[in-house]
Amino acid sequence: MPDFYKLARKILFRLDPETAHHLTLSGMNVTRRLGLLPHLTGLGPAPNPVGSGIEVMGLRFPNRVGLAAGLDKAGTAVDAFGALGFGHVEVGTVTPRPQPGNPKPRLFRLVEHEAVINRMGFNNPGVDRLLENLGRSRRRFRGVLGINIGKNFDTPNERALEDYVACFRAVYGAADYIAANLSSPNTKGLRDLQNVETCRELVATLQRERRDLALSHDGRQAPILIKIAPDLEADQIRDLAAVFSETKIDGVIATNTTIDRAAVAGHRFAPEAGGLSGTPVRRRATEVIRVLREALDPAIPIIGVGGISSADDAREKLDAGAALVQIYTGLIYRGPALVRKLAAMK
Ligand SMILES: Cc1cc2nc3c(=O)[nH]c(=O)nc-3n(C[C@H](O)[C@H](O)[C@H](O)COP(=O)(O)O)c2cc1C
Repeated sequence: MPDFYKLARKILFRLDPETAHHLTLSGMNVTRRLGLLPHLTGLGPAPNPVGSGIEVMGLRFPNRVGLAAGLDKAGTAVDAFGALGFGHVEVGTVTPRPQPGNPKPRLFRLVEHEAVINRMGFNNPGVDRLLENLGRSRRRFRGVLGINIGKNFDTPNERALEDYVACFRAVYGAADYIAANLSSPNTKGLRDLQNVETCRELVATLQRERRDLALSHDGRQAPILIKIAPDLEADQIRDLAAVFSETKIDGVIATNTTIDRAAVAGHRFAPEAGGLSGTPVRRRATEVIRVLREALDPAIPIIGVGGISSADDAREKLDAGAALVQIYTGLIYRGPALVRKLAAMK
């Protein structure tokens, strides 16, 4: 059934984007449990790992492609995404307390650009519920599970670190790696945390926490990553790279969505506030990876994300210096076949 996704997309794209999102996640879970997901996607069972997999940050990834944060914010569908062939799945962003996010509508499809604008605002069930959900949804997945953490919208920036620490402690036992999101444009002031002093303090604080937590987790040191925005100037990227190198962070995820609208100027949704993702952010994200790669300690891996909708796009990120890639918007427009193509890449 190679055209199944085309048909599903036709139906889903008639629905409002958020309804389509929820319907897809529940549909995936049900069909996965019935063992039908691989057949419905027309792809057959998930492929065996490429070779013996790839080792990054001391973790073994079955392949180079992961699900980017924000699609499975509540951690309810890890096994289902695993069944699509993802080698890693990043759930969240999760905050210490549950929060509803911004008022709807807050998600817009720019179909002509294979793009999305979102201003979800970290709608999520809170970290305790996320962990409960993972207990049910991560039973078979043999890949790497990342948990992306953030701060509640009503936590002032002066106390943001407390939120990151609270989430870090809570998720430590469940996460293979933990990514601190400093780059969503939809939580007021969040991106201001991407400055040299705050990043240095955040990384040092989380590393201290990790030393303590490792004692009660068989000595296991979960890698710590920071996710950055595509809207940073080259100098800002280099300054942050210096901090990342000095603190020996385990990895950097580049990039989140952009607030720049130049690539979609004139589109009826272009004036909507929020982060733009998909094809229009591809080049910029690659450029950020290139600048970062040049400035960063070569031992620190980059996960490249932003506008990947083909194997060539993924290759562009790897050539720019990424070790792994992630997708979100490309999955919406291209469907699960894209995961398979990227999972097969050496
Ligand atoms: C609807 C939506 C929600 C997102 N939510 C999050 C989030 O909660 N945390 C995060 O770090 N990134 C979030 N992202 C950003 C993606 O993880 C990714 O960095 C970005 O969309 C660029 O990749 P893409 O072009 O493949 O979508 C979100 C993206 C979209 C489209």
